[in-house]
Amino acid sequence: STPWQPAGLSEVFAEAQRNAEPDAWAYYQAMAGDPMAPAATDTERAAWDRYLLRPRYLRGLPDIDTAITFRNSTGAGAGTEITLPTPVFVAPTAAHGLVHPDGEVATHRGAGDALYIYSNSATRTPAEVGAAAAGPWWAQQYLLTDRGRSRQFLDEVREAGAGAIVLTCDFGGRIGWSRFRSVVQSRLVTDSGAYPDLGWHRMSRQVEQALAPDDIAWVADNSGLPVWAKGLLHPGDARNAVAAGAAGVMVSNHGRRQLDGVMAAVDALPAVLDTVGADVPVLVDGGVRSGADVVRALALGAAAVGIGRPALWGLAARGADGVRAVLDLLTDEFATALASSGAATAAQLTRDLLVPAPSPLP
Ligand code: FNR
Repeated sequence: STPWQPAGLSEVFAEAQRNAEPDAWAYYQAMAGDPMAPAATDTERAAWDRYLLRPRYLRGLPDIDTAITFRNSTGAGAGTEITLPTPVFVAPTAAHGLVHPDGEVATHRGAGDALYIYSNSATRTPAEVGAAAAGPWWAQQYLLTDRGRSRQFLDEVREAGAGAIVLTCDFGGRIGWSRFRSVVQSRLVTDSGAYPDLGWHRMSRQVEQALAPDDIAWVADNSGLPVWAKGLLHPGDARNAVAAGAAGVMVSNHGRRQLDGVMAAVDALPAVLDTVGADVPVLVDGGVRSGADVVRALALGAAAVGIGRPALWGLAARGADGVRAVLDLLTDEFATALASSGAATAAQLTRDLLVPAPSPLP
């Protein structure tokens, strides 16, 4: 069958919104501040749009190659090279079973050869997800006060084939949790027994609130895998994470779901990159909606770019095919933007290809 080729993300968004139950949709779209309300403004869009592309032509470009390569910097797996066919990866998001019966299994299949990050708050087990597809996947972890349970999660995901652990550091209490818990309980747990009771709907109260740099080493020791620190925005935190053995940093504000008024991830990126230095790979997510955004992130110096909600829209619209369509769309747009940047590969993207949007005339 021919793959789905939506004209743009807005088509995916519209189809997803039609398919998803209102509570599930509200949960996906929610941000911090006004719990469960769709955001009235899009701070991320505005932040990305402050970086304008300055294209280059007449460069006699050879064939465009969207593949990227980066290395785990320190800790377990240091120096291991990672090559991916696209810089766009699927960021970890909870509860895929809310919009598709196959849940995370469908997402991993849809991601194909692109990197998929499995959420600690999944509706399918690590074993099911690991067995679902051959593509690369990492597992995101919320460290729990009960370290025994956290160790068990690490054992399960390592056993199932996860290539790295993403330790989420920006947990500060969840958006609309009490209402969401009832959604999850009715839809996923008590409803039909269709999903294993992974216990994560009870997990939020048990997440370690006093995360410290030593915990990065604990996760590395107990998993034997590279550990990426996710959810950092301050360059000092990024430096501390790397000093504690993080393989790399994922700059993120959690899709604006943890802290109302938080800065945009793209605005945190330059200082983090300049602080950790060129040998430490830095990933970014938050509001990435086009190939131009991917070029923006990579020209600033990010190694790869995550999508949270857009992958969920794909899943809600068409299951695995929808996830694949979203990744293909952004990758195709990225290839086009790459060509207009006079770059044949991501490695040739440099900061001079961006200029700040001019301020309005007084
Ligand atoms: C998230 N995010 C998230 N992050 C994480 O580390 N663990 C998780 O379980 C979740 N769950 C989750 C659920 C939903 C519905 C959303 C939208 C987001 C944050 C996610 O990894 C990522 O940082 C953002 O989604 C990126 O922003 P965009 O692409 O959604 O704008």
